[in-house]
Amino acid sequence: MEFKIKRGPLAGQKTPCLVLGVLEGKLKSTQLQELDQLLGGRLARSFRSKEFTGAEGEKLFVHAGKDVPWERLLLVGMGRDRDLSLSRLQHISSAAARFLAEKKIGQFLMALNQAPIKGSSLAQRVQSVGEGVLLADYRFDQYLNDEKRKKNLALTAVSFWLDSGEKRAEAEAAKEVARQICEGVCFARDLVNQPGNCKSPEYLARQAVQMAEEVGIKATLLERDELAREGFGGILGVAQGSVRDPYLIVLEYHGGTEDAHPIALVGKGVVFDSGGISLKPSEKMDEMKMDMAGAAAVFGTMLSAARMKLPVNLVAVVPAVENMPSGNAIRPGDILTSLSGKTIEVLNTDAEGRLILADALTYVGRYNPRVVIDLATLTGACIIALGHHASAVLGNHDGLIRQLLKAGERSGERLWQLPLWDEYSSMIKGDFADIKNTGGRPAGTITAAAFLQHFAEEYSWAHVDIAGTAWEEKGRPGCPKGGTGFGVRMLIEYLRGVE
Ligand code: BES
Ligand code: MN
Ligand code: ZN
Repeated sequence: MEFKIKRGPLAGQKTPCLVLGVLEGKLKSTQLQELDQLLGGRLARSFRSKEFTGAEGEKLFVHAGKDVPWERLLLVGMGRDRDLSLSRLQHISSAAARFLAEKKIGQFLMALNQAPIKGSSLAQRVQSVGEGVLLADYRFDQYLNDEKRKKNLALTAVSFWLDSGEKRAEAEAAKEVARQICEGVCFARDLVNQPGNCKSPEYLARQAVQMAEEVGIKATLLERDELAREGFGGILGVAQGSVRDPYLIVLEYHGGTEDAHPIALVGKGVVFDSGGISLKPSEKMDEMKMDMAGAAAVFGTMLSAARMKLPVNLVAVVPAVENMPSGNAIRPGDILTSLSGKTIEVLNTDAEGRLILADALTYVGRYNPRVVIDLATLTGACIIALGHHASAVLGNHDGLIRQLLKAGERSGERLWQLPLWDEYSSMIKGDFADIKNTGGRPAGTITAAAFLQHFAEEYSWAHVDIAGTAWEEKGRPGCPKGGTGFGVRMLIEYLRGVE
């Protein structure tokens, strides 16, 4: 899809469709009246009959006459002034783009970036609209036949309309930012949507290496022999039930000064989580191909950060494994020795994410990170606590958590903090080893984080549980059913804000 910038009188634009945002009750702007004159009063009639009031989600779609250069007009309701925000603007833009794509209109001109959001810059609004459009255009159609694929008409050219006082350069830069961020989000979505049969740990590793080559960052793979030599007991333990070899994938991006300690990103990369010997119920087990969404978000963030040339140093560490039952698999009651030397009693083989993350968190300490952020589809309990509208964040450094909460709020990928008091750690004290890998049903998200905390003692650390946000169950304008790419936009927002 091509992005363009247009200026000059709105009524004189040549386009298959003009898209205009209207605030609830604000139906009398000179802009609207001017357009309505060209439409012979059709808008005023729709307003009078309350067909269109500007409430969020409403649309008014009309064809124009011969004497106007634009062929159609789409008015989209933006809701009430005080409720409008950048993330709402993004959703509104997605909804408008989907609406037109479904009508086979792949080219249009949007004035949505004019939305009056208090304290926002033109760049921020163009970025929000751009992201909304790009994410609405995402499809995973690799395995569909040509006919089905053609039904998903892709958008071809979307223009942003600027007012006379607005700077073209600012908008140009912002639309590129939107594109760079969405490239990372869509890369993550593709990885998550890939089915388990095609997605071995090796596949994940190869995808990461290929992406790293494309954007010019360093990639290193640690294979089974090396993991065994070094003592990655958690990763090897989980991997031993699968015929597919585990990998530790490490990516490094240097955009900051030589001596700046890196920000470390760690992502859970379980390519399929059957539960192992503690087998999961079969209902919805297909969704467990998404258990590498943390890894996908980390890779997507590295991709976007490199494209954007962010002035930071980053290291990404992803343990990639498959969790399967077999005669070789770990059993409930087994004791593993992690890379840190701490021993772990495996009470439930379905609590595998924390076992592999334990080793990854220990390993990343070798990079002297200034902070470590891990993303993981770690607990079903997180879905019980927060549903699908927020991820949980916990950690050992309040400043870092506060920054992540802010980045989540701004990007629309929201986080909510859960406590990590000492009492929770006592729930996972081991009977036969240092710690056990489950603390029972109460506070499942917190005890999982308390487990990880044991391996993150040496640095400032935050853990983001994305179990409820990594997968879209029904599909919405900005995201079809499947992987959401959650985490990329939040992390990029965070990284753009660090000094
Ligand atoms: N990958 C799952 C968590 C999950 C569940 C993610 C549903 C997304 C949707 C994780 O490995 C898991 O199985 N966790 C267990 C932990 C329990 C055995 C302590 C869980 O949440 O049931
Ligand atoms: Mn599991
Ligand atoms: Zn899992």
